[in-house]
Amino acid sequence: MLRNKSVVSINDIGDDELSEIFKTAGDMEKVLRSGRSLELMKGKIMATFFYEPSTRTRLSFESAMQRLGGSVISVSEAKSSSVAKGETLADTVRMAEGYSDIIVIRHPMEGAARLASRFTSKPIVNAGDGSGQHPTQTVLDLYTIRKELGEISGKTITVVGDLRYGRTVHSLVMALSRFNAKVNLVAPPILKMPDHVVSMLPADFHLNMTENLSDVLPETDVLYVTRIQKERFSDPNEYQSVIGSYKINLETVEAMKEKSIIMHPLPRVDEISPDVDSSPKAAYFRQANNGVPVRMAIISLILG
Ligand code: NCD
Repeated sequence: MLRNKSVVSINDIGDDELSEIFKTAGDMEKVLRSGRSLELMKGKIMATFFYEPSTRTRLSFESAMQRLGGSVISVSEAKSSSVAKGETLADTVRMAEGYSDIIVIRHPMEGAARLASRFTSKPIVNAGDGSGQHPTQTVLDLYTIRKELGEISGKTITVVGDLRYGRTVHSLVMALSRFNAKVNLVAPPILKMPDHVVSMLPADFHLNMTENLSDVLPETDVLYVTRIQKERFSDPNEYQSVIGSYKINLETVEAMKEKSIIMHPLPRVDEISPDVDSSPKAAYFRQANNGVPVRMAIISLILG
């Protein structure tokens, strides 16, 4: 179903496709645990273009492809200025088309992955486009919620931090609106969820916006914490004014339900205190580990 498709927005993945990814990722987890090696992607090449810093996303994509028996070629160039122009990106993608079977792109410009997909017939996977979206992170986030709590439907997910520039939460909230979940959006006014994201959500979606985290903690099943995206602020004073807006500590953990979890796409700066890590509720490292099987599933379903 996902075969040969590009994944630029979370909405490029339909409900049936999402279920298929969850199932396949579960199978991939079993393979990984057994230590068996796969040859599913033998002879296939993945090209990765990371024009912005990345640790987890890049490593897990590359590890996923290699675990599937495929190979990886990659470019990472910190200075994004030469590729920020649409034409140059188009040329890069045209070139990569001849060298690879699937192209993974992270780029500082919102819309870059969509633009790239217009210049190639090869599937493009968006690994983060500026403040736009990060669909594969969302799939692994949803996979984590299911694995940790059994299901997504009926759960209350509280998303806190930089909802304005954080691309992971843009994709996540869109995805959650397709499940019967309740979402609390917690942010200071400067960092609230952009209108263009909210306007895409169904009118009957159970969405609550607040600045006050403690009000919504007792009902929260999943506390999804994000980093303030320092690199996206054009005004340093504005950034200064929101530093440390929310700090998750043991007191926060105490205020949460017995069976609830804390997630974070990582990297964290200071928004979750390290002493929270040893709580069973701290699911962020388990979440990061789900990146490989979920990306193995996505790659193998796209490449058939
Ligand atoms: C996130 C990203 O790059 O958007 N990281 C990730 O992919 N796991 C979150 C962030 O950088 O804050």
